[in-house]
Amino acid sequence: MIDGVRVCAIIPAAGSGTRMGTASATSKALIPLGGVPVIIRTLARFQESAGVDDVVITLRPPEIDDVRGLAAGAGITKVREIIAGGAERQESVRLGFSTGTARRAGLIVVHDAVRPLVTVDLIDRVIKAALMDGAAVAAVRPRDTVKIQEEQGLVTPDRTRCWLAQTPQAFRRDLFVRAIETARKDGFEGTDDVSLIERIGHPVSIVEGSYENLKITTRGDIRVAELLSGGGIQDHTRY
Ligand code: C5P
Repeated sequence: MIDGVRVCAIIPAAGSGTRMGTASATSKALIPLGGVPVIIRTLARFQESAGVDDVVITLRPPEIDDVRGLAAGAGITKVREIIAGGAERQESVRLGFSTGTARRAGLIVVHDAVRPLVTVDLIDRVIKAALMDGAAVAAVRPRDTVKIQEEQGLVTPDRTRCWLAQTPQAFRRDLFVRAIETARKDGFEGTDDVSLIERIGHPVSIVEGSYENLKITTRGDIRVAELLSGGGIQDHTRY
């Protein structure tokens, strides 16, 4: 609860992990990082954040029982609902958003399960910015020069005006109701959540994120995340 507003975190974790280049049935969110599953590290940060009241997780159905057990074993007490996700990320978030838990919240914060190195500080800064401005997104500036492939050739946008969007992304619930309805009517499929809010013309505030808040997408990312998190951590007080 922040300023009397109930905050619900939605953690989409129903991806298939096809970019891992593995035939393994284990989704990215369940891969161990220093001995602790990625999603448990992520949930631990939301457990620690004083502003977050409730957590909803979307998963592939065969993983629901495993994650429920792992979360309970790790002392994660804020998980209210674990539901089946959809075919696309946006659908998984929409399903999480339509739960009773999310309906009771005034503010929603969405965070990819596969970004386990998020900090409590970043979660709290994004929530506070969304409380003030209606919607906020963690983002970093590109380190490389950005090129856009247009039909007539390459275009190089001014790098100082470019941002790479991460999660957490947070917004007022009423705003997202409108955004999601408009996206549905238009058949718009976004790769993040605040793009739906941008489309209804509401401003979205940028909160400086961190390059370490990486999204685990490939096998190489697991190794980088392991190094960033201090190697083979077995001490559960540190995950
Ligand atoms: O696929 P992508 O890398 O964008 O996934 C980001 C997050 O969204 C991951 O945590 C993944 O598990 C989740 N996701 C989901 N449902 C899908 C696809 C992705 O919950 N259908």
